[in-house]
Amino acid sequence: MKVGLIGWRGMVGSVLMQRMEEEKDFDVIDPVFFTTSQKGQPAPKFGGKDAGELQDAFDIEVLKQQDAIITCQGGDYTKEVYPKLRDAGWDGYWIDAASSLRMEDDSIIVLDPVNLDVIKQGIDKGIKTYVGGNCTVSLMLMALGGLFEKDLIEWVSPMTYQAASGSGAKHMRELISQMGGIHANVKELLDDPASAILEIDKKTAEYIRSNDYPCDQFGVPLAGSLIPYIDSQLESGQSREEWKAEVETNKILGTSEAPTPIDGICVRVGAMRCHSQAMTIKLKKDISVEEIEKTLAGANDWVKVIPNDRDATMEELTPAKVTGTLSVPVGRIRKLSMGPEYISAFTVGDQLLWGAAEPLRRMLRVLLG
Ligand code: HSE
Repeated sequence: MKVGLIGWRGMVGSVLMQRMEEEKDFDVIDPVFFTTSQKGQPAPKFGGKDAGELQDAFDIEVLKQQDAIITCQGGDYTKEVYPKLRDAGWDGYWIDAASSLRMEDDSIIVLDPVNLDVIKQGIDKGIKTYVGGNCTVSLMLMALGGLFEKDLIEWVSPMTYQAASGSGAKHMRELISQMGGIHANVKELLDDPASAILEIDKKTAEYIRSNDYPCDQFGVPLAGSLIPYIDSQLESGQSREEWKAEVETNKILGTSEAPTPIDGICVRVGAMRCHSQAMTIKLKKDISVEEIEKTLAGANDWVKVIPNDRDATMEELTPAKVTGTLSVPVGRIRKLSMGPEYISAFTVGDQLLWGAAEPLRRMLRVLLG
């Protein structure tokens, strides 16, 4: 299979290349690397494979020769190139990390540990466009897949704690600069054990609000603060990120006709690349915590139920622990005081792995059979 790779140099693309090397995906494809600026230069040798020269990412004739294309180049690229390529009669598989085509009728959102049946039906029906889901949505489904699969969920309200990486590489750098700036601003006072904490706090607050605090990317402070709004504003009062939870989840599960309500507030916090979510869930019936845990744990190979125990939670259920891994821990599972059908859960996942790159490379594997 000739597979065109676009946007492989960016953050999601780099994670994808890393994972494809680890899983030896390059052994079973003929990769063709595309570029928006360096056509003719030698292609990278991922997986030890010589892929010749970089091709022009806007050259429809060369793109047309691919059996499949995986793009992490972003939504603007998709919007420009995808229609031209389809209009030119290209019938190959388009696998995309960007959101532009996600909600189209003739596309499927891919998360095979959760919706392999939907994906396979799509392939049988001749659908050729497969799009990775929003990171929070994919990570929630990796965690709660068992309860959805058994149709036990009446509704979910996820309150998110989303990492800087969801905004992009520059934002991750800015977060660290903010942290460093905060420390540098009070270093002398901090080094003096006799200094007053309220003096340190005052200087820190002044610095965070000052023009010296670096926040060009986020627009407002993140380190030492948080941002309770992600993506654009919609008329419904939701942010676009919040809107995606319900529509994308139901599309992934193939339940858009009778959607499960999923709605909450999305918040950016100072984590690097792990999104966390605190969920309030209303179940369709009263089942024991033990049964809930068993159902969740059995759904896929990556979800890991963490007992609702203080030490285990503090060790296992944090971005610091999960970052850079495919593990999706879910814990803090307990009955809420609202009634026996109401439970809480907390989950953490790496938004660049299951949240972005991993479902794309696995879709390629599904196609390869
Ligand atoms: N929209 C997500 C975020 C990342 O801002 O965290 C991509 O799904």
